[in-house]
Amino acid sequence: MSTPGSSLEDRLESLRKDFLFDEAAAGRLVARFHEEMRSGLAGRASSLKMLSSFTRRPTGREKGRFLALDLGGTNFRVLAVELSGDRSFEVVRATRAAIPREDMGGDGVALFDFVAASLDAFLSGSGLPRDGKYGLGFTFSFPVRQTGIRSGALIQWTKGFTASGVEGKDVVVLLEAALRRRGLGGVSVEALVNDTVGTLVARSYEREGCELGVILGTGTNACYPEKGKDGVIVNIEWGGFAGFAGNSFDRALDAASANPGSQLFEKAVSGMYLGEIVRLVLDQLAREGLVPAPVGAPYSLTSEHLSRLVAGSPTGGDRVARAVAELVTTRSAHLAATAIAAVLLWRGEQAPGERVAAIDGSLFEKFPGYREAMSAFLAQGMGERAREVRFELAHDGSGIGAAIIAAIASEVPRKSEAT
Ligand code: BGC
Repeated sequence: MSTPGSSLEDRLESLRKDFLFDEAAAGRLVARFHEEMRSGLAGRASSLKMLSSFTRRPTGREKGRFLALDLGGTNFRVLAVELSGDRSFEVVRATRAAIPREDMGGDGVALFDFVAASLDAFLSGSGLPRDGKYGLGFTFSFPVRQTGIRSGALIQWTKGFTASGVEGKDVVVLLEAALRRRGLGGVSVEALVNDTVGTLVARSYEREGCELGVILGTGTNACYPEKGKDGVIVNIEWGGFAGFAGNSFDRALDAASANPGSQLFEKAVSGMYLGEIVRLVLDQLAREGLVPAPVGAPYSLTSEHLSRLVAGSPTGGDRVARAVAELVTTRSAHLAATAIAAVLLWRGEQAPGERVAAIDGSLFEKFPGYREAMSAFLAQGMGERAREVRFELAHDGSGIGAAIIAAIASEVPRKSEAT
């Protein structure tokens, strides 16, 4: 930490050190990540939950029309997907709505009623009868301990959600109750899906060889097929990884968050938090008298603001904001690349060959320079082996994958699902 009297350039230099995540740190992180993966898979205490998804990658021959609900980011989506059975699909219709803030933080029943009402509106907007029979995949992008393909309890909310009466409950039961309250009893929930699993499955439906499903958006996480579990896809929940020690700004963000002490890796990487880290830094610089104005309320600076700052050619105070935004987002890209490398290296020991990571989320898709920073860091850290790695954008994969998993699950008799 520098003193209030030091120049702005010196202060930026000290911040550069605070936010540096270099190759040596990456090497240590990979080793720790593997230890935590091993413990999590063995059922020992671990910050990586390594949750079973109760599904494997698809064959590409799954067929039929399915609905999908996608809850877990800033927007809630409803989709109708037609699977051709020959590795292609069509999104017949999709709608998107912002989740009302009061439902994210209010009563869980109201949140599920909002979901059911959105599905109802979707059916009428599509000209589909509300008393028809539909198979549905439910993407619920939070840590869930599944007990079968159609059941699982929310372990803990993340990403600022705090709705009451949901933690510890089976979210499929909550959804089905809301559907019944809405008079949509003909909708049958066939599969409960994490968004990373949906992303991996959607890309794998189109072609073989995809090894990793990754989300780099409001939150962050990844999944992969685990050879030790006969190819069942494991949801890592890497947002909870505790092997990365952040700096004083990360600690301040965590302390004031809705879930202090949890999701520390996610808080350093994902889109929900990057603007807030930058705001905390600028706030500190303002208190030190190095930048002029106060910088607004908590979470008023979003990653969309950071995108614009980084893409523009700012002057004056914005020049400092841009420099800080670059430090924070570059560290995020380096951390994400390192976590991807850790999982690919783990997989690599199981099955050598080309490695494809299907990635969805606004940071990866839209943030200027993010993808390039990830690739460059991966190449530095993995050397020659980075050549085998390909990042592929899997846009909207989470919802499409839920429809595919619903198709797989609808073939499974309900009473044998938990085996
Ligand atoms: C959740 C994960 C999810 C990720 C990306 C995290 O906050 O815990 O389940 O996959 O966000 O949406």
